[in-house]
Formats: sequence, structure tokens, C-alpha cells
Amino acid sequence: MASEEKPLVVVTCTAPVNIAVIKYWGKRDEDLVLPINSSLSVTLHQDQLKTTTTAAISKDFTEDRIWLNGREEDVGQPRLQACLREIRRLARKRRSTGDEDPPPLSLSYKVHVASVNNFPTAAGLASSAAGYACLAYALARVYGVDSDLSEVARRGSGSACRSLYGGFVEWQMGERADGKDSVARQVAPESHWPALRVLILVVSAERKLMGSTAGMQTSVETSPLLRVRLGWVGAGGRPGRVLRPSGPGRCAPLSGISRASQFRAEAVVPGRMVEMAHCVRERDFQGFGRLTMKDSNQFHATCLDTFPPISYLSDISRRIIRLVHCFNAHHGQTKVAYTFDAGPNAVVFTLDDTVPEFVAAVRHCFPPESNGDKFLKGLPVRPASLSDELRAALDVDPTPGGVKYIIATQVGPGPQTLDDPHAHLLGPDGLPKPAA
Ligand code: DP6
Repeated sequence: MASEEKPLVVVTCTAPVNIAVIKYWGKRDEDLVLPINSSLSVTLHQDQLKTTTTAAISKDFTEDRIWLNGREEDVGQPRLQACLREIRRLARKRRSTGDEDPPPLSLSYKVHVASVNNFPTAAGLASSAAGYACLAYALARVYGVDSDLSEVARRGSGSACRSLYGGFVEWQMGERADGKDSVARQVAPESHWPALRVLILVVSAERKLMGSTAGMQTSVETSPLLRVRLGWVGAGGRPGRVLRPSGPGRCAPLSGISRASQFRAEAVVPGRMVEMAHCVRERDFQGFGRLTMKDSNQFHATCLDTFPPISYLSDISRRIIRLVHCFNAHHGQTKVAYTFDAGPNAVVFTLDDTVPEFVAAVRHCFPPESNGDKFLKGLPVRPASLSDELRAALDVDPTPGGVKYIIATQVGPGPQTLDDPHAHLLGPDGLPKPAA
């Protein structure tokens, strides 16, 4: 893609949001963004939620610049700088391993980047994962890099490496200190489970009280439910470093702390990763749904076990949890499953034949206030009415306006390159095009 003859090389890409069903919470290395446990996610469809990013390089650009949702941002932010450094390192490496290719001039060219989301950033939906995955993907295209981009995306935001693939994706925590084996891999493609549906229940458009980066750092430091630090040695013999599931030459207890207390990262997640991948492969919704809810609950338990405690769930989130459990109890099986990230919005998984009834149940418990016709966005949902039995089983006092709107979506593909030059967010001068 990159070419020395052209005055301006420009590419535009899109990337999806992903939702973790086995959560990443905690880093063992803050700089390299290496997690204390593996995680597994579902990539959401870009028809409903995506980031679009244009990257352009030119010998005429005098500095790197970036515009997010139309506003110029500080390109000096450490995470952005880490992504740029990493992609240029990969590009140099690629060229230097070629037989006759001298490092091309384009590697020294400055880059302009413009990025927009097709969903409101303020809705508290995971925009950083899609944003950094899209940045990594677009930079790779414009600098001509075709190697694994996990590391580039991860340096922007850990969860972003999972947005590099469609379908069902795991981020393997890896063991190496340099993070080379901490990579995202596809577990199953987007076509694997066509009946799976995702409903995002937008509860609040407020900004988060505590971002995930700071939140997980405090959890790692203070929550023994998440990970024991003191009193353990890692492979390098340094206290409080890398903790791994037990094994020869790995971790050794120094003091009287029991193995049972290395709870989530070491004792729980490894087994859950295997179980979740199995449920996905078998399209076992009961198993998938139950484990998704349990893992979300455990993540929020470690947040509450953090000192001072962090609580991302609101009263409405807890009412949604109750609604889901009442709905499942009424049906005598797991028909719907919730998961919550670092905010109060619920992401609900279900199968296509359950969507109309569950949406009717949400409308019943959270009657739309003013925007009744805009309550449902995304995939069309057939209207349905609630049976008297289900209505009685829901057993909740309706909270008008508690859920602001629902986005109905499904599993989707990974990043794409757009061929249409009209899609470019930067004009021939390398500056953002005026908004249409
Ligand atoms: C709760 O990837 O946003 O959504 O690596 O510090 O940028 P940084 O954190 P981030 O954390 C995501 C946390 C989560 C769970 C998950 O997506 O796995």
C-alpha cells in the first residue's frame, strides 16, 4: 500500500467493538500492557457499532497529528506514541528482512489520523477497544505492515487486541516478559453461531467515575480476590512479579499465604477459558450464558473487594440482573445472560427466537419515557406481548426511563479496509474533510 512515488498515501479502515465474556482486569506489566489472566470476547457487528479511521502519510507532513470525532487531540499521549513507535518498528523490521529492499523513505514520513465512531462515545460503550484496533489496522495498511498487530493494538488499550478479529476471540495472556506471546487469536469465526444475538441496554450516558486503567491498577494492588502479590515470587525470583498457575519453576509460596487465595487470575480464569471456548464451539447457550454471568459477577466482586471499593453497577444495572434471573427462572433454563464492563450499561446475550419476548419484558420493567419510537435501535425486532404468567414472574416495580434505549446487534467480522475514496475522513491536503 505504501508507495514512494505518491505524494500522499491514504487508507481508511473500520474496526468493531468487542465484549468480554471472560474479563480482563489487571496488568502484570503496565508499560507493555500484559494482563494477569487470559480473556475471551465476542466481536459485535459493525453495522451497529464501529470506529472508522483514516491514516495518511506524506513527505510534506511536518508532524504526526490526530483528530478524534472531529477534534484535534494531543498526539503526545503515551499510549498513542507507543502504538506509533511499535508500528514503525514492525515496518522497519519487515523491510530490513527483505533481500534487496532498503528501508523506504515512507517510514520516516509523519502520519495524520482521523477517527470517528458511529455511536455516541458518551454512551459509555467500549470505544477505546474499537478505536485502538482501528488505529493499529489503519497504520499497518498505510506503512505496509502485515504481521500480527496484537502488540500494537494492546499498547493502546489491552482489550483492543481482541477487536482485531471477528467472531469469538481469546487474548492469550502469554508467559514471556517481553509480551511477544500475549496475543489475540480467533476461537470461532462470526458465521459460527448465527442465532446468537446481543442487546445493549443503555442505562446511562454519564462518563465513568473511574476508568478501567486506574480501576484495575488499584484492584491488582489491593484485591486478594483478584491476585495475591506479596509473599510470592515469580519466575525471575522477584517478589510480586509474574504469578502463574502452579508448576515447576513458576511460583513458590514465601510465607503462610495459601494457594487457595490466588483466586481469580490464577485459580479461576484458566479453567473458565477452557470451558467458555468449549461452550462456544458446541454452541451451548446454557453453558455460555451461565458462565458469562458468573464471570461478570466475579469481576464486579473484585471491584468491590478493591480498596477503596469501585462500583460500576447502578441500581438500574441491578434491576436488569434481577429481570434476567426472573426471566430465566420462569422459563426453567438460561434463555438470556448479562455482562457488565466498567460502567452501568448491560450487554445481554440471547438467541434470536427469544429476542421479542425479552425486549417486551425490558419495556415492561423500564417503560420508555419520551422516545418510545426510538427505544429500539439496530436490528429489527418483532413486537411481542408478555404472557400474564411471565408478567407475574418478573416481580419488579417498573422504573420508567431506567433503560434509555436498546441496541440490537449480532456477532460480526473483524476490521475492514474501505476501497471507496469517498470514505476517507482526510482530504487531499491531509486535513479532516468538513463534516457533510
Ligand atoms: C472491564 O482494555 O479498557 O472491559 O488496557 O487499561 O486500556 P486498558 O483497559 P481496558 O479494560 C477493559 C476492561 C473490561 C473487561 C474486558 O474488556 O476484558
